[in-house]
Amino acid sequence: MTVISDQTQPDELQSHFDETIARERRIEPRDWMPEAYRKTMIRQIAQHAHSEIIGMQPEGNWITRAPSLRRKAVLLAKVQDEAGHGMYLYSAAETLGADRADLTDRLVHGRQKYSSIFNYPTLSYADVGVIGWLVDGAAICNQVPLCRSSYGPYGRAMVRICKEESFHQRQGYELLMTMMRGTDSQRDMVQQAVDRFWWPALMMFGPPDDESPNTEQSMAWGVKRHTNDELRQRFVDMSVPQAEKLGVTFPDPDLRWNAERGHYDFGTPDWDEFWAVVKGNGPCNAQRVAHRKSAHDEGAWVREAALAHAAKSAGRR
Ligand SMILES: [Fe+2]
Ligand SMILES: [Fe+2]
Repeated sequence: MTVISDQTQPDELQSHFDETIARERRIEPRDWMPEAYRKTMIRQIAQHAHSEIIGMQPEGNWITRAPSLRRKAVLLAKVQDEAGHGMYLYSAAETLGADRADLTDRLVHGRQKYSSIFNYPTLSYADVGVIGWLVDGAAICNQVPLCRSSYGPYGRAMVRICKEESFHQRQGYELLMTMMRGTDSQRDMVQQAVDRFWWPALMMFGPPDDESPNTEQSMAWGVKRHTNDELRQRFVDMSVPQAEKLGVTFPDPDLRWNAERGHYDFGTPDWDEFWAVVKGNGPCNAQRVAHRKSAHDEGAWVREAALAHAAKSAGRR
């Protein structure tokens, strides 16, 4: 191990960093890191935080219309968890020197992205179940490997987040199971929701590997552990038996078991649609960002009051 002091030369810092990564040890906020690593981590964590916060909107849409007190309590708890995930992640980004107000500003002005999935509308209550099952399910596939992220604060935040995501997935699946035991029109609602969300859920893993230019560097740095296509395959393999148990089908004529590969084959997502949504032209992009901006503007007095209170308390001490 290199011993780091004030006199350490840049190349020694770089080799200490490389050694830490190679030994699968963690980079901590006080450690030297290459600027590109810091920037990549801020971008990755901020995008993730924004996704948690924007992701409250599609389901929040159903809180006042949940069909029973029990369903309302479950949905409220789930949406509040997502707010908590956003908060841990903004805090993790702050350990890299990012400023939370600046990150929010970038989000509401379209200069930082969030997951494409949250730009689709939630048209029926079955969408709440399908989001829990498929969207939180895809998030789990993406996020479990991130518990081993080379950046310490992010990896540790992901451990807790993943535990809560698994509750989210189960509450969604349980909701759908209940609807599938109901009437024909409830079963139709579930199937229609699955039809609408299946392809967007597959797009959550990002573009195909050969169109994902940052993957190689991110894997070398241990901030990404599997490629987009590997994770997408894992998600398909996991979801098909769950769909069979539930009694729904996925809208993909090419979906079938491939005994030779030991995996399901599946069709190609509509990547033109994916890029259109990523570039801001999905069904709900403008609405999501406008809503986030108005919530932020309306909360200005709360932030001012909290700062004034903190200053007053500090003065008293
Ligand atoms: Fe979450
Ligand atoms: Fe979740």
